[in-house]
Amino acid sequence: MQIQQAINTACSSLGLERRDAQLLLLHALGKSLVDRAWLIAHDTDSLPAQTELRYINLARQRAAGTPLPYLTGHVEFHGMPLQVDGRVLIPRPDTETLVDWALECVPSLGAPTGSVPQIIDLGTGSGAVALAIARFLVRTGQAGDVHALDVSPDALALAQANAERLNLPVQFMLGAWLTGIPARYDLIVSNPPYIAEGDPHLDALGHEPRLALTSGPDGLDAIRTIVGQAPDHLRPGGWLLLEHGWDQAMAVRDMLAQVGFTQVQSRCDLAGIERCSGGRWPV
Ligand SMILES: C[S@@+](CC[C@H](N)C(=O)[O-])C[C@H]1O[C@@H](n2cnc3c(N)ncnc32)[C@H](O)[C@@H]1O
Repeated sequence: MQIQQAINTACSSLGLERRDAQLLLLHALGKSLVDRAWLIAHDTDSLPAQTELRYINLARQRAAGTPLPYLTGHVEFHGMPLQVDGRVLIPRPDTETLVDWALECVPSLGAPTGSVPQIIDLGTGSGAVALAIARFLVRTGQAGDVHALDVSPDALALAQANAERLNLPVQFMLGAWLTGIPARYDLIVSNPPYIAEGDPHLDALGHEPRLALTSGPDGLDAIRTIVGQAPDHLRPGGWLLLEHGWDQAMAVRDMLAQVGFTQVQSRCDLAGIERCSGGRWPV
């Protein structure tokens, strides 16, 4: 089968989007996913039989609903290439809002005590948030120790592999939110699970770990725990920044205000939806 024909067949018989068919073919060929121009330049090349089989298998899985990043093993997050597989949630563009907010806070961290800022990403998954922050610190030459925690050993193994491949200094630990952690931080950032058990949207997310998605009857159990624990784990003037669901901003702001956070506020995602809320622990 020729390259052009392979792409057209996946689109017409399996209903794949053209871009997905192209990326899967590049992956089956062992080529970089940015090489779509190569496919166009070689559209009459014949595929080796093994590649064709691999491609058909991938295309069928995609048609059956497996997310593209789980098939290619690759996703871009905050301009950074990350490896992903079924052990972790696929990082979403919306979470870049949380990272951008964290990066805005970085210059003021540690100021009251003059010590090296301590930053922790709770529920790190693929390591996306922690690695984006660590990369920013390295690139801008700012001081800061980045820690990343998850309750899933499988997720931690993948996050650690991403850190090693990107050569970024992040200290990983296994744990359940902040339970039993003696340290205090200048910035606690988290994209915890926040979908309500039984939410109909879960049907479309069946390939991702349930542990990364749901959190109690209203989706807010993890956020309640983190907000409740954070005051004992923040240094004076430290920030807690949380991603949450499209309709949870007011509830999260109320929780933050109730335990004594100041400067409580929310940030919108690319679609203009309040997606993150946070506050500052009093100095
Ligand atoms: C929504 S995912 C976020 C993953 C990653 N931070 C991102 O933004 O792509 C939530 C993560 O929280 C982790 N998690 C769930 N329960 C936890 C707990 N009790 N303590 C720590 N991490 C937990 C899951 O394993 C998952 O990796």
